[in-house]
Order: sequence, then structure tokens, then C-alpha cells
Amino acid sequence: MKVTVIGSGYVGLIAALGFGIKNNKVICVDKNKEKIKNLKKGIPIIYEKELDNYLKKCIEDKKITFSTDIKKGIRESNIIFIAVGTPPLNNGEVDMTQVKEVIRDISKYINEYKVVVNKSTVPIGTQKYMKRMLNNEGISNEYFDVVSNPEFLREGKAFEDFFNTDRIVIGYDSEKAKGVMGKLYKNFNRKIVYTNPETAELIKYASNGFLATKISFINEIANLCDEIGGNVEDISYALGLDKRISPLFLNAGIGFGGSCFPKDTKALVKIGEKYGVDFNIIKSTINVNNKQRIIPIKKLLNYYKDISGKIISVLGLTFKPGTDDIRESPAIYIINELIKNKAKVKCYDPNVSKTIKDKYPQIEYCNNLYDTFTNSSCAIFCTEWEEFSKLDLFKLKAKMKEPLIIDGRNIFNYEHIKKAKIKYFAIGRGYI
Ligand code: UDX
Repeated sequence: MKVTVIGSGYVGLIAALGFGIKNNKVICVDKNKEKIKNLKKGIPIIYEKELDNYLKKCIEDKKITFSTDIKKGIRESNIIFIAVGTPPLNNGEVDMTQVKEVIRDISKYINEYKVVVNKSTVPIGTQKYMKRMLNNEGISNEYFDVVSNPEFLREGKAFEDFFNTDRIVIGYDSEKAKGVMGKLYKNFNRKIVYTNPETAELIKYASNGFLATKISFINEIANLCDEIGGNVEDISYALGLDKRISPLFLNAGIGFGGSCFPKDTKALVKIGEKYGVDFNIIKSTINVNNKQRIIPIKKLLNYYKDISGKIISVLGLTFKPGTDDIRESPAIYIINELIKNKAKVKCYDPNVSKTIKDKYPQIEYCNNLYDTFTNSSCAIFCTEWEEFSKLDLFKLKAKMKEPLIIDGRNIFNYEHIKKAKIKYFAIGRGYI
């Protein structure tokens, strides 16, 4: 089928390549000339596993073209995916400027029937709003249908999630559009949930809200474990054995970050407010997470009382392993607190983007993992990168001024820590 994806950000680019791999003819449009120039040359513009291979394959097989020409993108395909940014506004609501701009372009260039599909995470009611906008621009209903098809990708596992998703959600209000979408996804062989557009829009928020709640829940259990001498990992394991609960998303730690959970939980509260529904559970999920991400600071100050002038090492800056994304990363909140408490911060991350260096010029970046520990009074581990679990703890201890580890992601095997005689605090491992 002929598919255009507008927006070559995370969701847009993965979807464009994914549909290309599934044998569709794809045009990926972005107004950013630099991005398109690089993509045409096969240069991946974001960090994601397998992206370079899929990009190369789609270009070689002529399954994808990249363009800044939105008119061409709209005219030459029958399915137009909108995957532009929907960043949060300061008040927690969603900024729809880019979506509105695309709708205006569609109304300008539309030449025959199109299915316009919303992939961006947008407020409830957006499908209806988009239809109204197109009508107000003089486009009658026979020229288009608008469908909601939310995306559930995880960074670092995006292609795996795209091709093997647990479910495809399609919110539609016309049989014609349902048929087109069904045909597009036929060879995915995944479960498809057909529903009305409002429900589809809410499924995305409900899914992210629920997963975020699972994390905050286990983190509160972990905090209790620390007080009572419990073991949160055994609790997660036992909970996960109950099929009604599932073992996933029960890893205790310093909370969730990234571009989705923090944004979507806040948006869900706002959506609730708009319709007079008080989302107490989601509000608590957010509050627990706000406290959880700076728990290492609480443990650190409890131990030293004053950390001014002390060298503190922060290991892992991204919000999770397998990405270069530092948006809403707990590590950033920890660094801010360390700076506030006048500590000297040394950082290491195997994959961090350069942007953080511009943002925090006062902190020291180490290119070598072991250099991060030199003269340090505490090493705080914020991301469970694989190389951290393989650290030589004796070498680490020899480099440190005072051997203290705060393990924000429960990375280390306690027997190894004990052998190296390092003071150690973790999350919910109160039995140690
Ligand atoms: C998430 C959703 O999983 C995905 O379906 C949606 O489309 C976008 O948001 P992502 O933000 O890429 O994906 O990361 P995810 O792997 O879900 O992790 C989010 C955060 O939760 C990370 O900071 C991670 O460290 C944290 N997390 C996850 C935990 O603290 N414990 C867990 O058990 C799982």
C-alpha cells in the first residue's frame, strides 16, 4: 500500500521503516532538511537497535523515500500517518501546534480520498477535532476518514515492539477506513482491537498510566522492604507468578523517566480534570515517582549528613539502558540535588548525548568508567547498563576515597559486594 508518514521523530521513523519492511511503499516527510538529508544517505538520526540495518534495507529495496515535500507526501499516498511531536505544555496539557499544522497542510493538498491516521499520543477527542478542522477548511467527508492508531513502542526495543506488538488498536468511525487499516496490518498477524476513536485514544493513556502505576506500586513496597528488612525482588517474583498480575514492570528502582510515562500520566490527570474525573491513582503514581527518583540523595545525606565538597560519581544518565535519551531521567534529578548540596559531580554513561554536557558545564564527564570513581565518596548507579554489572568491584574500591555504592537499579549481586567489603545501599533490599 502507499503510506506517508509525517514526522521522522522516534515514532514516525520506526513506523515508516516498519511499514517499508512489511512491503509497503512509504514516503517519510519531515520539514527538517538536515534530518531528511541524513536519512536519504542512510544515516540513522536517532539511537535505536537495528535502525541502521532497516534503514539500509528499505533504501536498497526502494521501499522508502525521504522528503521535505509535504504536498508530495499527501498526494501520492492513500494512508497518511501523523507522527509529529505532541510535547507537554507547562500546565501538563498537550501542545497540539504541530498536529494542527499538518491538518492545515492536508486540507491544502488533498486531491482524493485519504485515510488520515493519528499515531501521536493526543488528547481524547482529537480524532473528532481533526475531522472538524478538515471540514472547517472546506474539505467534505467523502474525501477523508480520520483514524486513531496509537503506538506502544519502547525505546531500545522499538522494532521488536512494532512487528510483534501485543495488540494493534484502531479507533474508527467509518467501515471504509476500517477496511483500509485492516488491509495495512493484515500481514502483521497480531491481535487487532477495533473500537471507537475516543476509546482508542484513551487506551494509550490507560496503558501507560497502568504500567507507571505498577512501577510506583512496587517502589512503595520496596521502600517498606528497606524499613522491615524485606526483599523486594522476592516479592516481585512471587507477585509475577500470579498470572493475573504478570511479572513485567515490577522492577523496583529510582522510578520511571523517559518521554512517555511522565508526560502521559500528567496528561491523564489533566484529561480527567477536563471531564470532572479525579484521577487519584495516577496522581499518587506521579507523586511516588517524584520522591522515588531522588531516594539515593536521601540515603546519601542520611549517611554523610553533609556532602559539600565531596566527589560523588553518577553512573548512567539515560532514563533506561539501550537509549541515548535523558528526558525526565532520574539521573538528572539526582545531579540537580547533588549540585544543590554542593557536591562535586563526576559522571559516566556509555551512550549519553552531547546535549547534557552543554546543560551542565559544571560537572565532570569521564570517558572511562573506572576514572569516574577516582577519589569519590559515593557511586550512585542510576541506569542498569550491562557493563556496570560486570564491574571489577575491587578495582572500583581501590579508586574510591570512601567505598560507598548506592545502587538505584539493584544491579549488583550482594555476595560480590560483600567480598569487596563495600558499604552498599540498594532499593528494597532491606535484608542486606
Ligand atoms: C514506554 C512504554 O513501555 C511504551 O509502551 C510506550 O509506547 C512509551 O512509553 P519507554 O518510555 O521507551 O516505553 O520505556 P520503558 O521500557 O517502558 O521504561 C520506562 C521507564 O520505567 C524507565 O525509566 C524504566 O527504567 C522504568 N521502569 C520500567 C522501572 O523502573 N521498572 C520496571 O519494572 C520497568
